[in-house]
Amino acid sequence: MSTNKVNIFDTTLRDGEQVPGCKLNTKEKIELALALEELGVDIIEAGFPISSPGDFSSVNEISKIIKNATVCGLTRAVQKDIEVAAEALRYAKRPRIHTGIGTSDYHIKGKFNSNREDILERAIQCVKWAKNFVDDVEFYAEDAGRTENEYLARVVEAVIKAGATVVNIPDTTGYCLPNQYGDKMAYLRTHVSNIDKATLSCHCHNDLGLATANSIEGVINGARQIECTINGLGERAGNTSLEEVVMVLKQHKHLGFTTHVNTKLLNPLSRQVSDIMRVPVQPNKAIVGANAFSHSSGIHQDGFLKSAITYEIIDPVDVGADTSKIVLTARSGRSALAFRLKKLGYDFNRNDVDVLYQKFLQIADNKKEINDEDLHQMAKQHESVETV
Ligand code: KIV
Ligand code: ZN
Repeated sequence: MSTNKVNIFDTTLRDGEQVPGCKLNTKEKIELALALEELGVDIIEAGFPISSPGDFSSVNEISKIIKNATVCGLTRAVQKDIEVAAEALRYAKRPRIHTGIGTSDYHIKGKFNSNREDILERAIQCVKWAKNFVDDVEFYAEDAGRTENEYLARVVEAVIKAGATVVNIPDTTGYCLPNQYGDKMAYLRTHVSNIDKATLSCHCHNDLGLATANSIEGVINGARQIECTINGLGERAGNTSLEEVVMVLKQHKHLGFTTHVNTKLLNPLSRQVSDIMRVPVQPNKAIVGANAFSHSSGIHQDGFLKSAITYEIIDPVDVGADTSKIVLTARSGRSALAFRLKKLGYDFNRNDVDVLYQKFLQIADNKKEINDEDLHQMAKQHESVETV
């Protein structure tokens, strides 16, 4: 492995769009593709061209306007899919065809009613078909997470020999534990003789909430591409969240990995995706949730107000979030109350704050959150009592 740069492969427009009710039209996809390029992702998976005329046209239009990122189209291991994808990608400056087939016994038997040798041949064949159109061919071994390592290694070696430049190891069902997924990558690195001729890619789903951890473990064990989506959108429980993996790599500098993502754009893009796809972001979502930089308990607020690093590992400015928030609830303390009052222009002494705090607790016990208007009212009332 000669590089510690991790390529970010965004699949918001393909796997992310598979969220029920999130279908995007071509105009919306173009808008997001441009935003993703500005964010600095390396690869944009723009769609699945054979799936519908709309998706064909989206991949086609995105191919025309994207200047730096690789534009990728998904296919099954089917000749017609590959021809259509190649046509959709015709204008791309850096086209990539992403083709593949299920390799776990669940898929081989349950989906294809086939056997390992036949699937191996089909895997080789689809890469060869794609190679007739583009140099950059990514192969996915669907359900690699539940594929026996020995067979997976045979498939990976064969598709690299057939010309695959990237080999995607999807944990399609989000089943793996981080150490299992990491071990799988390590196994491939040591058991596939031509592994240095291709980049290994992580593609993790979040069914057990492990997609981020698994992707990071994959990278630590030799992968150099992560497939992910903004806000972790995707089938079922979603895909690996782009903002999470990028920030894990950035915050844990000792790991030694870099990406080209401009992290200051993470929050604005999260909101844009949430608006266009009409999927709200859960408030406690890491990096981009509304509460990601909010402090509401007295102990945390006191520490945070003395030194932000006591309770924040990321500077919100670094990820384009609003400044950290001190939220006032019945669990808040005096220092938080004084801080918020000061922000509104009231400079009460310690005794005043003590009196106000008792009043505050009474109101806070009946209300979920104390807002600026409540504070103004409390402060004005206190001032008028004081001046009588
Ligand atoms: O989850 C998966 O296996 C996929 C492949 C089609 C890459 O999305
Ligand atoms: Zn997927």
